[in-house]
Formats: sequence, C-alpha cells, structure tokens
Amino acid sequence: MVGATGMVGRELLRLLENRRFPVAQLLPFSSGRAGAAARFRGRSLPAPAVDFLALSSCDIAFLVSSDEVARTLAPRLAAAGVWTIDDSAAFRQDPRVPLVIPEVNAAALRRDARLIAGPNCTMTGLAVAAGRLHREFGVREARVASYQAVSGAGKAALGELFTQARALARTKLLSDGRAPSLGPGRASALPRAIAFNVVPQVGRLGADGYSGEENKVRDELRKIWSAPRLRASVTAVRVPTIRGHALAAWLTLARPVSVARARAILAKTPGLVLSEAGDYPTPRAAGGTDPVYAGRVRQGTGPREIALWIVSDNLLKGAALNSVQVAEELLRRRWLVPR
Ligand SMILES: NC(=O)c1ccc[n+]([C@@H]2O[C@H](COP(=O)([O-])OP(=O)(O)OC[C@H]3O[C@@H](n4cnc5c(N)ncnc54)[C@H](OP(=O)(O)O)[C@@H]3O)[C@@H](O)[C@H]2O)c1
Repeated sequence: MVGATGMVGRELLRLLENRRFPVAQLLPFSSGRAGAAARFRGRSLPAPAVDFLALSSCDIAFLVSSDEVARTLAPRLAAAGVWTIDDSAAFRQDPRVPLVIPEVNAAALRRDARLIAGPNCTMTGLAVAAGRLHREFGVREARVASYQAVSGAGKAALGELFTQARALARTKLLSDGRAPSLGPGRASALPRAIAFNVVPQVGRLGADGYSGEENKVRDELRKIWSAPRLRASVTAVRVPTIRGHALAAWLTLARPVSVARARAILAKTPGLVLSEAGDYPTPRAAGGTDPVYAGRVRQGTGPREIALWIVSDNLLKGAALNSVQVAEELLRRRWLVPR
C-alpha cells in the first residue's frame, strides 16, 4: 500500500482488516519521512519510502498517494503483473484503464487490464445513487452543486480546518448581539480559509471558469455510465465538514418519471440507502459508514427532471471502500491469485 499513512490509506488498512481480506503480508509505504508507521491487525509496521522491487513482488498494490506517485509507479507495476488499484486521478480518463465502481460498472473490469482506477469521491455518490435511474430512464443532463468535506483534500487540509476552528472558537458575539465579521482569514492547504466559511473552488480553475473537480465529475460520470454525450454542469464547493460529501443534483431524463417511480427505482439501487420521504441524510450521520444515501427526491422544473440530495463518505465509498470492493471482485472472479 503506497500512502498507507494518509487519510485514505488508514481507512483502507482498517477495511482490509475488518472485511478479512486475505492478506498474507502487507508492505506499507509513505513519503519516507522519519518514523512513519501504519497499524494493521494490532501491529505497528514501519512505512518507509517506496521500494519498487518489493512492491512489484506483491499480488496487489493499492496506490493511495498522489497523481505524481501513481504516474511513476502504476504502469510499471501493472506491466510487472501486479493488480494495481489507484485512487488518484492520474489514469481515470485513460481509455485503456477501467474506471470502476463495482455496483455500477463491474463489467468494465478486464482480466488483461491490471491497472484499475478508483473514481473521484464527489462523482461517486451521484454515479451510485442515480446509476439505476440512468439505466432505466437515461440521464441526459446533470446539474450538480457539491458540499464537500475537508478530508477530501487530504490530511494537511483537515489539520488546517481544526487549527482555524480552534482559533475561531474563542470568537464571541459582539456585546450588542451583532454578528462579528471574521475577514478573509489565511489558508495554505486550501484556496481560502475554510473554518466558518464555504469556498467555491475545488482544484485548479481553468480558462473556461470550471475547476478541476467540476470537470472530473462530468468526465468520470460519462465514463462510468458509458454516457459520452451526457451534459453536466457542476459547481464544486468545499464546506467545513470533516467527512462526507453532499450533493444537490437535478437530473433530466430521456422520458418523464414521477417521484413515486423514481423513489421505487432508488429504493432498489445497489449500494444506496433511501431516506423516508420528509427525512434526509447529512454528512454527520453518513460519515464513517459504507453506503451512499439519498433523500429529498422531488420533481424538478418539468416531468423529465428529478431533484435529489445525496451524501456519501468520501474516504470510504469515495475511495478506500470502493478499492477494497474492486479487490474483492477480483478475488471472486479468481483473477487475483497468489503468484
Ligand atoms: N481524501 C479523499 O476523500 C479522497 C477520495 C478519493 C480519492 N482520493 C485520492 O487518494 C489519494 C490519497 O489521498 P489522501 O486524502 O489520503 O491524502 P493524504 O492524507 O494527504 O495522504 C497522502 C499519502 O501519500 C503519502 N505520500 C506522499 N508523498 C509520497 C511519495 N512521494 N511516495 C509515497 N507516498 C507518498 C503520504 O505519506 P506521508 O504520511 O509520509 O506524508 C500519505 O501516506 C490521492 O490520490 C487522492 O486524490 C482521496
């Protein structure tokens, strides 16, 4: 596991242990900083810098580090016969690399494609929640606003949220009850101060005004749903929640659908928990749990549009859990066997 000491890596270790994934030997790697260690099955294991030779002797490699590290390691590992599951964005749009959410498109896995990309954590909630609706009614257009947790930007960003929040916890209402102005604040891991704020930028802003995250949601949805002509417009926003990405989505379908019919389809969608009408999921409730959740299903501006609210844990279904589910699928197919 490359990136075993990161936010996703730690979840992955816990899942491999709790789901009894048949690990004979685990080799955790980090950036190589002094004292880096990973906990697995009650033991603390040193997590040194990557040793390619050792890594290439493994049967499966989980890459949960960065795009750059994945670009260097993933193709070489796959060429050496190692099943390689990469959670970075480096290969998601490569036509030779399957981008897989098992509940949605396990059929994209191929025996000869040893490098598999895990999906963007924001897109995952929508891809799972509306996957069956798309199959039955054909989603033609998706408009999405995201409310993304800080853990989605890694451990440095999460540290920044807590530092800022601790400093602001001492802020008082003004003596006459007026609300204080906090000013823009300072940030380094995120584009703006995040505590007590919302920041409408996730990733770099391009010349067309869209952010990297917004493009990923559109492009990855097209690939996962095999819907190259899907129209999508996304506004990705970072909010000061810890874990659990929320989405407000408006979906235009090929044919009219009633709310009752849409709810019936959502209720049968694999991996999705649908709230009772009038109830809804929140990041606080969904954080740390496996499923994708949806609620507030409404008719949109016309009979072909459905609006809904979706929440999923970005570190679990959006990353670590999805990777373990892909690995479990490889085991089930007997493609992943000790060499
Ligand atoms: N966070 C999410 O919600 C989420 C969701 C989907 C996908 N992803 C993807 O998952 C990956 C990991 O994200 P994260 O949030 O877990 O990041 P993170 O908390 O910042 O952790 C990064 C990990 O990579 C390691 N690392 C850094 N440089 C390295 C190098 N040169 N060689 C080997 N390891 C190195 C770090 O080791 P040290 O401990 O030594 O620094 C750490 O273990 C990223 O590609 C991200 O895009 C994240």
